[in-house]
Amino acid sequence: MSTLPKRRILVTSALPYANGAIHLGHLVEYIQTDIWVRFQKMRGHECWYACADDTHGTPIMLRAEKEGITPEQLIARVWHEHKRDFDGFLIGFDHYGSTNSEETRLHAHAIYARLKAAGLIEVRAIEQFFDPVKQMFLPDRFIKGECPKCHAKDQYGDACEVCGAAYQPTDLIEPYSAVSGAKPVRKRSDHFFFRLSDPQLAEFLRDWTRPPHVQAEAANKLKEWLDAGLTDWDISRDAPYFGFEIPDAPGKYFYVWLDAPIGYLGSFQALAEREGLDFDAYWDATRAAAEGTEVYHFIGKDILYFHALFWPAMLRYAGLRTPTGVFCHGFLTVNGQKMSKSRGTFITAESYLRHLNPEWLRYYFAAKLTPTLEDIDLNFDDFVARVNSDLIGKFVNIASRAAGFIHKRFDGRLGDLPPHDTPLPAMQAAAEAIAAYYEAREYGKAVREIMNLADLANQYVDQYKPWEMAKQPGQEAKLHQVCTVAINAFRLLTLYLKPVLPRLATQVEAFLNIPPLAWADSGQLLTEHLIQPYQHLMTRVDPKAVDAMLADNRDSLMPPPAPVRHGEHQQHGVVTKSAEPTPPPSSAKGLINIDEFGRIDLRVARIVEAEHVAGADKLLKLTLDLGGERRTVFAGIKSTYTPESLVGRLTVMVANLTPRKMKFGVSEGMVLAASDERGGPFLLTPDSGAEPGMRIK
Ligand code: 2FM
Ligand code: ZN
Repeated sequence: MSTLPKRRILVTSALPYANGAIHLGHLVEYIQTDIWVRFQKMRGHECWYACADDTHGTPIMLRAEKEGITPEQLIARVWHEHKRDFDGFLIGFDHYGSTNSEETRLHAHAIYARLKAAGLIEVRAIEQFFDPVKQMFLPDRFIKGECPKCHAKDQYGDACEVCGAAYQPTDLIEPYSAVSGAKPVRKRSDHFFFRLSDPQLAEFLRDWTRPPHVQAEAANKLKEWLDAGLTDWDISRDAPYFGFEIPDAPGKYFYVWLDAPIGYLGSFQALAEREGLDFDAYWDATRAAAEGTEVYHFIGKDILYFHALFWPAMLRYAGLRTPTGVFCHGFLTVNGQKMSKSRGTFITAESYLRHLNPEWLRYYFAAKLTPTLEDIDLNFDDFVARVNSDLIGKFVNIASRAAGFIHKRFDGRLGDLPPHDTPLPAMQAAAEAIAAYYEAREYGKAVREIMNLADLANQYVDQYKPWEMAKQPGQEAKLHQVCTVAINAFRLLTLYLKPVLPRLATQVEAFLNIPPLAWADSGQLLTEHLIQPYQHLMTRVDPKAVDAMLADNRDSLMPPPAPVRHGEHQQHGVVTKSAEPTPPPSSAKGLINIDEFGRIDLRVARIVEAEHVAGADKLLKLTLDLGGERRTVFAGIKSTYTPESLVGRLTVMVANLTPRKMKFGVSEGMVLAASDERGGPFLLTPDSGAEPGMRIK
């Protein structure tokens, strides 16, 4: 195998606010990023993963006050909680810092000074709501009042949670301060603005906001924003505020969103000092271009505006490099719905870890993740079925079936490999295709490919039946070979899954008595090698543990107060209550609302195989291709179709039905067909142009 040119890569995930617990919505991003980083490291690249707590702003200041502690005490406590949760989910940060650091402060000062020198900072007085009791200006989320549109009481200053209207705080009827309850007054003060309306910035951003810097879907959204025109960005807040004071402007502080992304630099600076890295090789515009270093930010789609407009503009005009890529992902829904406290689906990382294995969730998210902005759903029935069938049934099972014989019959020593007729060459040949999927953040496809390889390995074991060979005299040598093949197959699957299942991979490395697996090791196989006794590697998910976790979360947790964002009302990684107008409740007359319809995952599927089912009068067994993924479905369409007439045609399937165990096997979905007394069932066919895997909506 040729050695790859060594890349130098810095990767970040969004910095979580230091005023709330890490929950499963956050973890979509950290798991997505961590898999990518681990993959790059396995490929032999220099890849650093830096992150930090996002510690500044009014909500953190007020929360500390409410708890009777200083903001510094609050953020120190939350830092430990966050770090504990990330460690629990095996997120392998190379450095986890805080934006309230000297490194971040110095970079914020330097960037600000350069933007000012470039003539891009302007000071002007604006009028805002002021709490006369607390003697502070109020962010929009801290002003409440009656919605000017639907007249619902106690709505926030930026948007109504009842009718979904967005407005200015000054539009509220009878506004009051959510901090003290006082009637706010309007007061003028000087604010510092980053002049984003400057035509040179718009020109730069139009050019920059395209693939490969951002995904095509994100580029479309950014174009809309740019077409609408950018307005100058208010980067200052008045005291009292928890943040960095602006140089030469006593009582004025940088707005939290100014120093949050600068926290990426601060965190990397601390890492660079610890590891002896050259900071400027990564961040100075000229040096980075000359040395080809790469920087990637993984973010949720709710903060695209900041990362693909404000941030590159700040960097560009401060003489720093811009990101190589901003990778945006969708939100998490649980059981098809927004995470909800009352349903127990607002699940904290900590409570998940109390009941379930983190690698199960890492695997499940990986199996669902794509490089798009589409939301992903955590369906707990599917979670249990998939983890048990893939990780236990297909993967771990291979080792447990073969390892016992190696120990009992061959003193723990692997033998040689048969020259032909094993799945190993095909499994080795898949290494680059799987690597390409990881590189492109097509983790769902990578996982499917790996599970196809696991199927091959299991078919091999089923074909030779070592448990029968073991009983037959004279089969000793063949048994040794078959078990050696199985253990090698297991080693290759472990290697391919290692970015997703790092802890399990470490256990397997100990069991196989081998050094840490790197990607290039897929080129080698293990023969005549002593392995350790097999110890159980992973247990099945018990649905009762899932129920216990949901019960634990029900009503036990208040979602953290929503942070103040520019025209956005979504929590990082999760669709929250205020994200969009609540759809009207479904009617008793059999109507469903759009959310309920949206829970059905309808996909275009190609029928790649169709066969009769012995003993079934009505059923045909169909193998469907969903654009890479294969599903088996038993469909009651035998009265209208012969198997031959179906092969190759496209149809429509429900892709998120809980798998159903039938007498003849497991049905993993449903195809759609029309029928009534006039005839049928008649399968649905999409129009030409539709391709397997396309979503129907
Ligand atoms: O949305 C959030 O949770 C922010 N704390 C993310 C900040 S990312 C970066 F800019 F620091
Ligand atoms: Zn309203």
